[in-house]
Amino acid sequence: MKEKMQALRENSLKAIVSCPSAEQLEALRVRYLGKKGELTAILRQMGQLAAEERPAMGQLANKLRADIEAAVEERRAALAASALEEKLEKETLDVTMPGENRRLGHKHPMYNVLDQIKDIFIGMGFEIEDGPEVELADYNFTKLNIDESHPSRDWTDTFYFTEDSRILLRTQTSPMQIHAMEHRRPPIRILAPGRVYRKDEVDATHSPMFHQIEGLVVDKGVTMSDLKATLNLVVEKIYGKGTVTRFRPHHFPFTEPSCELDIQCHKCGGKGCPTCKGEGWIEVLGAGMVHPKVLSGCGIDPDVYSGWAFGMGLERLALGEYKITDMRLIFENDVRFLEQF
Ligand code: PHE
Repeated sequence: MKEKMQALRENSLKAIVSCPSAEQLEALRVRYLGKKGELTAILRQMGQLAAEERPAMGQLANKLRADIEAAVEERRAALAASALEEKLEKETLDVTMPGENRRLGHKHPMYNVLDQIKDIFIGMGFEIEDGPEVELADYNFTKLNIDESHPSRDWTDTFYFTEDSRILLRTQTSPMQIHAMEHRRPPIRILAPGRVYRKDEVDATHSPMFHQIEGLVVDKGVTMSDLKATLNLVVEKIYGKGTVTRFRPHHFPFTEPSCELDIQCHKCGGKGCPTCKGEGWIEVLGAGMVHPKVLSGCGIDPDVYSGWAFGMGLERLALGEYKITDMRLIFENDVRFLEQF
């Protein structure tokens, strides 16, 4: 028995030390030390020994088991280390190699202006809201108190998807007022920028696709003076301190009263010049107090709450800011043009 153990010791240690892989090493461990392994087989013969021989043989067997286990562990560690080394070797990276030059784009000038406006409103506690460009006529018109005969519903003005004039490309961002009032409860303060679509011919100041920014405030005790004060502040942030504004009466079906906001031409100070087309004033946005019918249609009690809203064109703002004279340049995305900003 002693000889058998000696033979097992020699064979196993030799095999373990030269074992080439972790999988084979595990197989060896099972072969020598497993329940059906070689050491177990030897120990099974212990019964045939004389009683006084057994303790010494037992000790020998324990020592052998420990030595084989230690050898397996040592080999396992060595294999793991060389595997790592091999991996590192294979994955060498030549940091001196010249990199691939990627052309970096930059923000579109119109989005610079949009981000500036967003910042102003976020600073006043507004949340930015996003909504669908493919819209129901219900939201684009009906819930905004725009009746069936209104000219903007005409097929010559609006892009429709369905014969029944039910689904369309939104012609304004004002349906976002409805979405906001249906999904939120007052106090509401949102800013909703996005694309809108109208059947306009392309020229220097028109495009069938353009951008608007909608703003909406609904709360208890909101008045026209809040509208004026807030918009005056925004205008000063955009056009500079001391910019003169004029709120001119206007009509929108979904606001009452309604107005348009003009700024005095910052180029000529109101005398009239090419920038203001001789008018002395530049139209900036449409606004008004949210119509009580629109509020109640969205489940907001107009006897308790009131609100104001505005909508402004983003392109016109960007054109003014960067002194661009043709709106087509904004959409053509000629890098030679865009790179200038
Ligand atoms: N939606 C209007 C337009 O496109 C602008 C507007 C928005 C007017 C909100 C009043 C209130 O002309």
